[in-house]
Amino acid sequence: MIIAQISDTHLTLDTPDAERRIREFALTIADINALDPPPDAIVHTGDIVHNGRRDEYAQAAALLAKAHAPFYVLPGNKDDRANLRAAFSKQSYLASNSEFIDYAIEDHPARLIALDTLKPGRNRGEFSREQAQRLVEWIDTEPDRPIAVFTHHPPFEVTVGPDRFHFETAESMALLQQALQRRGRIVAVFSGHVHRAAAGRVGTIPASVVPCIATTLRKGEYPSRMQTRPVYHLHRFDPVWGFVTESRAVGMQGSTAGEQNNAPIPAASLAHG
Ligand SMILES: [Fe+2]
Repeated sequence: MIIAQISDTHLTLDTPDAERRIREFALTIADINALDPPPDAIVHTGDIVHNGRRDEYAQAAALLAKAHAPFYVLPGNKDDRANLRAAFSKQSYLASNSEFIDYAIEDHPARLIALDTLKPGRNRGEFSREQAQRLVEWIDTEPDRPIAVFTHHPPFEVTVGPDRFHFETAESMALLQQALQRRGRIVAVFSGHVHRAAAGRVGTIPASVVPCIATTLRKGEYPSRMQTRPVYHLHRFDPVWGFVTESRAVGMQGSTAGEQNNAPIPAASLAHG
């Protein structure tokens, strides 16, 4: 089983780098479509769009519709739950009576659970008791298959970058951490939000952060030939070893997507925002 994780595309329609963000999102999907073997699923861990607007989501939905593998989306702090749900209304996993966009996908050798850590109007995340209770119920539903969890905000201390904690309160993050460790069934936690690669642990569970797709927002140092290439993660599941993560730079493998990506980018769009 292979999962492609992308995050933080921050699509806009009216910033100076708007076209570039759209192109980087499109090139990433093309790169994933060219993978051999193909992934079983694509998960977008949030901040799909930058302002939560319907027209931004229409653009995002059109780009994700080109994906060959089934895709799953969850909200980040820049997303709007109602507009996200409306844009992806064909995705049955989003149909829920809950206020939160939490769901479990049962179609794969490992179970996938997506958790909504959005607190509207805030950059930091939140996780409620109601959500923790449902997570515990999902974990208890099935005793056999291991579980991978996806969140926007990393539920662990991130030791790179200016902020170490990405939740509104320590209590909120502790609530999530406690639920994640129930019965030892969750074998990996995959997050976004930080815009740079990071790794840590939730108890003994390995956890990681994928860099952002929008390269104008990316943090950290990259060699010059990689500065305009989005980075995403491929998580390969092995029943014995668990998940092994590979970091992929879009267009570095000589795919069609890569050739397109070698086209020069207008200097005006290279300014970092
Ligand atoms: Fe974020």
